[in-house]
This record gives sequence, structure tokens and C-alpha cells, in this order.
Amino acid sequence: MKGWRLAALGGGGWLGRALILAALQRGVIAPADICITSRRGRLEGFEAFPAVTVSADNQAAPLVSEAVLLAVRPQDLDQLSLDLSGKLVLSVMAMVPMEEIRRRFGSVRIIRAMPNAAAEQCLSFTPLLASPETTPEDRSLAAAFFGASGLAEWVATESELDYLTGLTGSGPAFFAALAAAMERDAVAQGLPPALASRAIGQLIKGAAPMLAGERSPADLVDIFLDYQGTTAAGLKALEENGLSTLVRVMLEAAREKAAGLS
Ligand SMILES: NC(=O)c1ccc[n+]([C@@H]2O[C@H](COP(=O)([O-])OP(=O)(O)OC[C@H]3O[C@@H](n4cnc5c(N)ncnc54)[C@H](OP(=O)(O)O)[C@@H]3O)[C@@H](O)[C@H]2O)c1
Repeated sequence: MKGWRLAALGGGGWLGRALILAALQRGVIAPADICITSRRGRLEGFEAFPAVTVSADNQAAPLVSEAVLLAVRPQDLDQLSLDLSGKLVLSVMAMVPMEEIRRRFGSVRIIRAMPNAAAEQCLSFTPLLASPETTPEDRSLAAAFFGASGLAEWVATESELDYLTGLTGSGPAFFAALAAAMERDAVAQGLPPALASRAIGQLIKGAAPMLAGERSPADLVDIFLDYQGTTAAGLKALEENGLSTLVRVMLEAAREKAAGLS
């Protein structure tokens, strides 16, 4: 995919940096073909790629680029008043629908992507949604760019993308909330905080590869239920006390926010 130039507006932030570094490390784009903008005009984390340029000029960077990555926070979007007609626009912004990008920037070739924080480890799950006007080359460029930082998969509708914004765009957050609640309970039940913290940390390290292994999460739950031990007692209490309802409420709240409904 070398030979295409990318203007990455806000590309030095948490997510933009992770995506661009992964693409550079995998040779999806050449360092000299990337210009990253930031209001501070400063860039951290790109020391290994000195040919990457940084600019505070959001107008100039896209002029010499075929593709533009929108990686600012949604609340900073109003600061970008640009004509991107004729450009391929790649947006990772949550809560900014395809139609709004089209209206603000005049581009019709738009690909929305929703990576998550695990892009830093090249382990993001990244749903991609393409506008009908994108070309096969646009889509393969986006698949290569976002595939560098994890597993990128096309979805058919914006409503699927909004749902996935809650489900996987949240990265480790929902699992972290459960782990934090377990740690709080352990301390409330009298365990020394340092011991509780070590125990939960090791539990997560051991659980992650098992959860990502051959067996599905549902199969793992069944194995523990069949064992009929202490874990089965806890699992049954979890379900009887509303686990599925809580998960529905959590994911619906995130979806509504992603779709701009709350
Ligand atoms: N973080 C995630 O896990 C995640 C997951 C899914 C989607 N997203 C989406 O990714 C986007 C970026 O999130 P983030 O977490 O990476 O935020 P972030 O760390 O705050 O990065 C945003 C970057 O935008 C730059 N910026 C802000 N206003 C600018 C402007 N007018 N011109 C040029 N650069 C500007 C900031 O640098 P300066 O302050 O130097 O300008 C900053 O480096 C958001 O829209 C978010 O919805 C994030």
C-alpha cells in the first residue's frame, strides 16, 4: 500500500498514535507519507520514524494527501473547518455519523472505523463501515491500515457500527469494571488490599488466554457449571441476580450514546 499519503488530523493522540505506529511498523504506509496535525504542533512516540512530519495546520496537510484520518475527539470537531471533497476520509470518531462527516467536509468517500484501546498491542477489534461511493482500492487501503492494529472487519450498517462502538470500542473497560468490583468486594470482606490486587491481577492474566482460546466463553461457563462446585454456585447467583439484564442495560446505554440518542 506504499505510495499513498495520509493526513492524520489529531493523529498524535491515544488512538491515532497507536493506529499509525502499527501501520508504520507493518510497512502499510511509509513514514514520509504521513503528516500528523496537532494544535500543539508536537508529537511524542514517533522517534523511531523521524520522516513522519507534524504540523499545526489542518488546512495544508490534507492538500497533499489522498486520504485524511479524522482522529480528534468529537468535542473538538468544530475546530476542523475543511473542504475534503475528493479525499478518502477515514474517521475513528465515535458519535459522528457518516452523514455528518459528509455534510461537514464535503467528502463522499468515507470509511468509519471503531478501533479500541488494544490497538496499542495490535489487538483491537475494529469494525469498518464504508460509504457506497468508496472504491475497492479505498476499502483495501482501509482494511490494510486498520488491520495493522488488530482484526478489522466490515459491517453493513451504521447501526451495527453503533452497537459495536459499545461492545468492542470500550476495549477493556467493561471487564475492568467487573474486576474492580471483585477487588472492592475482596477488600470489603477483609482481604488486605495488596493481596486482593495481586490476586485479581493474576486472575486476569490467567483468564485472558483461556477466554481467547479454543473454547467459546459459553462453553467455559458450561464446563464450570457442570463441575457443580463453588464456581457453579457463584455463576448461578450471577444469572439469578440479573447478569443478562445488567449487560443489556450497559450495552444499550453505550449504543444510545454512540448513536447520539442520549
Ligand atoms: N481512545 C479510544 O480507545 C478510542 C476508541 C474508539 C474511538 N475513539 C475515537 O478516537 C478519537 C480520538 O480519541 P483519543 O482517545 O485518541 O483522544 P486524544 O488522546 O485526546 O487525541 C486527540 C488528539 O487530537 C488532537 N487535536 C485536538 N484538536 C485538534 C485540532 N483542532 N487540530 C489538530 N489536532 C487536534 C490532540 O492534540 P493537541 O492537543 O496537540 O491538539 C490529541 O492528540 C475520538 O474521536 C474517539 O471517539 C477512541
